[in-house]
Amino acid sequence: METVTVHLESRSERTYDILIETGLIRKIGRDLKKRAIGNRYLVVTDKNVAGLIGVEFVESLRSEGLNGELFSIAAGEESKCAETVLEIAAGMTRSGLDRGSAVIALGGGVVGDIAGFASAIYMRGISYVQVPTTLLAQIDSSVGGKTAIDTEHGKNLLGAFHQPKRVYIDPALLRFLPEAEIRNGLAEMIKYAVIRDTDLFDTLRRRRDEVLQLDESLITRLIARCCEIKAAVVEKDEKEGGLRRILNFGHTVGHGIEAASDFEISHGAAVSMGMAAAAGLSRIEGFIGRDVEEKTIDILKQYGLPVEIPSYIMLDSIIRHMKSDKKFVGGTPFFILMKAIGEVFVYDKLALDKVNLFLSEP
Ligand SMILES: NC(=O)c1ccc[n+]([C@@H]2O[C@H](COP(=O)([O-])OP(=O)(O)OC[C@H]3O[C@@H](n4cnc5c(N)ncnc54)[C@H](O)[C@@H]3O)[C@@H](O)[C@H]2O)c1
Ligand SMILES: [Zn+2]
Repeated sequence: METVTVHLESRSERTYDILIETGLIRKIGRDLKKRAIGNRYLVVTDKNVAGLIGVEFVESLRSEGLNGELFSIAAGEESKCAETVLEIAAGMTRSGLDRGSAVIALGGGVVGDIAGFASAIYMRGISYVQVPTTLLAQIDSSVGGKTAIDTEHGKNLLGAFHQPKRVYIDPALLRFLPEAEIRNGLAEMIKYAVIRDTDLFDTLRRRRDEVLQLDESLITRLIARCCEIKAAVVEKDEKEGGLRRILNFGHTVGHGIEAASDFEISHGAAVSMGMAAAAGLSRIEGFIGRDVEEKTIDILKQYGLPVEIPSYIMLDSIIRHMKSDKKFVGGTPFFILMKAIGEVFVYDKLALDKVNLFLSEP
């Protein structure tokens, strides 16, 4: 088993472990019992995951003598909204959850974000644990304590920082995951490599086939490494005042593309195009040479990720969406640019006109 510890401030009660092991799903009940995280549990999941492992999972909790019930929401981003939070809250009340109870978020990032948010506000905050089941959730959304829902005015507009008590990652669950979802996660994995880790970058380059086949020991190690990188960044800057912004590498342009496509383009694909653009912008600003830009673009292509923005997406629309990015404090746009593979920094001297010009070049 791999264990990554997320240390938060000096207050040790907020420090938590991320456990990563094949087959871990069957051992969660025993661990929860030992740690007595909640007096009863509501397992929040989505319909797809419920069909795959929901019933079995709740049974495994009950077989340890724990009081657990299943609550499923519809699958997909549309569920990450206020109505669903109210439904979850109603389910929490019906199941008799009190301040000593806990929520278990069993699913992808949608479930993790909304179940985390529901537990952040239910009775002003109760405990929750994450059992992420997509690659994206296992290396990204389950770590760091950001919870949120979308409103008609924006994605992740309402949210809270609420750290889980524990994160249980079972890479075996990825076997059921559609390939497109694996690629979404791989885009984030490449992001971690580019921002922080040349060894990870080299491993991804050299062992692509094993990565794509989800080789058990390799994928476990890679997930652990990504969690370590995210944990190290979050430990230094939990609320995104500075350093945490580097996790947005590829996301400034990426979010613009996602929104301009009306979310037709998946997050991973948009971030991949965004990373390719960020590498190009790093070159034209003189921070890296063409060789580093090409190396970055090559690894994305190696994993079948797109690097060019489709021509049907209007550049004006990308720029307009970038301008309204809630990450731009006081309206100043910032970009995460590269100095090398494994080294990035926050850059706020790039005018959007220049970005527009760069993106419009063939
Ligand atoms: N909190 C954060 O820090 C953070 C970071 C990144 C992304 N996010 C959020 O994460 C969300 C995206 O998460 P996601 O990509 O996991 O999407 P998702 O939760 O919608 O899951 C993708 C699909 O895979 C299905 N699925 C989940 N696990 C499965 C499994 N093991 N086998 C088969 N199918 C499975 C789901 O039912 C869904 O249809 C977005 O809402 C995004 O805003 C949050
Ligand atoms: Zn992302």
